[in-house]
Amino acid sequence: MGDKRLKVRATATVANVSCGFDCIGYSIGSPADILTLEIQDKPGLELTISGEKSGTIPLEAEDNTAGKAILSLLNSLDRDTGFRIHIEKGIPPGSGLGSSAASAVAGVVGVNELLGNPMEEDELLVHCMAGETASAPTEHADNVAPSLLGGIVLIRSYEPLEVLKLNVPDNLYSTVVLPDYSVNTRDARNILPKTVPLKSAITQSGNLAGFILGLENEDFDLLGRSMVDLFAEPVRKKLIPGFESVRQAALDSGAIGCGISGSGPTLFALSSSEEDASKIGKSMVEAFLKKGLKSRAYSSLINNQPAKILD
Ligand code: HSE
Repeated sequence: MGDKRLKVRATATVANVSCGFDCIGYSIGSPADILTLEIQDKPGLELTISGEKSGTIPLEAEDNTAGKAILSLLNSLDRDTGFRIHIEKGIPPGSGLGSSAASAVAGVVGVNELLGNPMEEDELLVHCMAGETASAPTEHADNVAPSLLGGIVLIRSYEPLEVLKLNVPDNLYSTVVLPDYSVNTRDARNILPKTVPLKSAITQSGNLAGFILGLENEDFDLLGRSMVDLFAEPVRKKLIPGFESVRQAALDSGAIGCGISGSGPTLFALSSSEEDASKIGKSMVEAFLKKGLKSRAYSSLINNQPAKILD
């Protein structure tokens, strides 16, 4: 393969992680999106797509998360290089696993590489965020940042943007369970409360601080006690059939904590061993089935690697 064509893999991510609404996210090993990018002679972006539920994804560059992110990057570099891009969706859209974020990240990383890396990795983030607005009403970084950088990421500030990687304990495992059901990201955003009571904000701040300290000190009891969300979960759980029983099944099987991944309907759980992670996945799948929903589970260590150029 020549230097004008390459493939990039960007992983799925779990955003919010309960108490970190819009400001914490982590990367998982799979599923992932793979983009093949090639420089073309004429300006403009030509997008094609394949993979899970990809028929629902617009291919006009401005309306596509990868396309919009790449256009943002090219505009800021004042370049009009054209690209042919094939998007292979491994992450189903509308799953709550950062599907649009992964495509945006892979697109931006690939184009930056093909242009000879004019931007540093941390400078790419704002363009990935701009891409996300093709499918979500607001810019948030808690999916794109961990997909781009790997690991568990804190968005300390949006204005100015400040992103920090947190400690990832060696034995911290993630299980995500995707029910065969879609939640529209815009709908899940629009049902959020516009304001929150001061008491809830105080509790959420305490939990977020406890969560970060739990990671730093590798104190999984503290981590679990802190995984409570008073902002999004109380309203979003109503969009997920069987939420309470699936969450309870995860906790009964040894999960440190369990909650909604991003805007749902995927649920995530954290645990401290591979055996627990797999057992938790099976119990959650069974609990969804009791509510009439098929689902599939992915268990792995937290992925600490950034988006990857494959060849
Ligand atoms: N933090 C965002 C939200 C992630 O919960 O709306 C969406 O995937």
